[in-house]
Amino acid sequence: MMKGCQNDCATGCMGAAAKQVTESFKAADLIINPSTTFKEKPDPNGLVFGTVFTDNMLYIEWSLASGWEKPHIKPLENLSLHPAISALHYAVELFEGMKAYRGVDGKIRLFRPRLNMDRMLRSAIRATLPGFDKEELLECIRKLVEVEKEWVPYSTSASLYIRPTLIGTEPSLGVKKPSKALLYVILSPVGPYFSSGSFSPISLWADPKYVRAWKGGTGDCKLGGNYGSSIYAQREAMELGCQQVLWLYGDDHQITEVGTMNLFLYWKNEDGEEELATPPLDGIILPGVTRQSILDLASKWGECKVSERYITMNDLTTALKENRVKEMFGAGTACVVCPVSTILYLGENLHIPTMENGPQIATRFLNKLTDIQYGREDSEWTVVVS
Ligand SMILES: Cc1ncc(COP(=O)(O)O)c(C=O)c1O
Repeated sequence: MMKGCQNDCATGCMGAAAKQVTESFKAADLIINPSTTFKEKPDPNGLVFGTVFTDNMLYIEWSLASGWEKPHIKPLENLSLHPAISALHYAVELFEGMKAYRGVDGKIRLFRPRLNMDRMLRSAIRATLPGFDKEELLECIRKLVEVEKEWVPYSTSASLYIRPTLIGTEPSLGVKKPSKALLYVILSPVGPYFSSGSFSPISLWADPKYVRAWKGGTGDCKLGGNYGSSIYAQREAMELGCQQVLWLYGDDHQITEVGTMNLFLYWKNEDGEEELATPPLDGIILPGVTRQSILDLASKWGECKVSERYITMNDLTTALKENRVKEMFGAGTACVVCPVSTILYLGENLHIPTMENGPQIATRFLNKLTDIQYGREDSEWTVVVS
């Protein structure tokens, strides 16, 4: 096999194919033919997440035979796909979730988008989908947002959600690495996560009978299959009167993630130390951009111990009995931080005193991160679109 070949060629690769796959599309080749008709822009306050889309999309085709085609920005339209494609049958599919924010200074910014590009490339490799140059994709996305800049809400509580997607499109029922793929990016304006304007804490359901991710699986990648299979548990949580699933793992009921967010616990740990803790990236945790940012900020502030460590339900219930828990919150692009108030676990409703404690640290993270996103504070974490 030729050095650098990503094609898993069974019989030795001819070199040309290897070259094609390792090549990337280039933002300089973008063909921009935007829509000449414009949809009406909605009031961001009344938006249901992911239901309204902008006028244009980024569209880039790939094939094993010729590598990446030139990237296009063109009117958003339905895709025409063969019914046998592996994205539809075997979930050979991945996606990303990021946002563009309109700052108080009128500039439009992306927040740490290179972390999304890194994660997307890792997901692509895990899904046997083609690799690409992360900087070139970021520049294509930047251009798309620039074309659609009027869709970025004029609001510091709303934003433009960016959904990069990569799907296997070979028309074949074979369970194998696809020889055709499509990368596209669509944009959707989204309103405030907490419509009341202040935090509304969420209730969680924790039951070990459903598992989101497992060692050796794909939980640390953003593959569609992870999410489709989680909806059943989410529905049961709601039937039980809870808003989200607290995903447990292993016989010791390790706390892993909450819904589609990473989880943080701010408490006095077993050794009496003030600690901000989140589970480690051991393969079953999605490496969230918000998670990383909270860890980076807390480490920089240096005011408490910051740990990537295991937390079991037993650790939590013991700490609750001993009044050592201060705050628990989810962290993700959608809400930034989302306080937790109760956990239904083994038939018992555990009260988490997040709101009674401010929530002090969760609010501080929210303010700091949104100050950066909306340009109230300068930061090297942002990339200016225009
Ligand atoms: C399972 C899961 N965990 C955590 C997150 C939070 O990640 P981020 O902060 O990058 O939005 C997400 C959202 O993408 C997710 O789907």
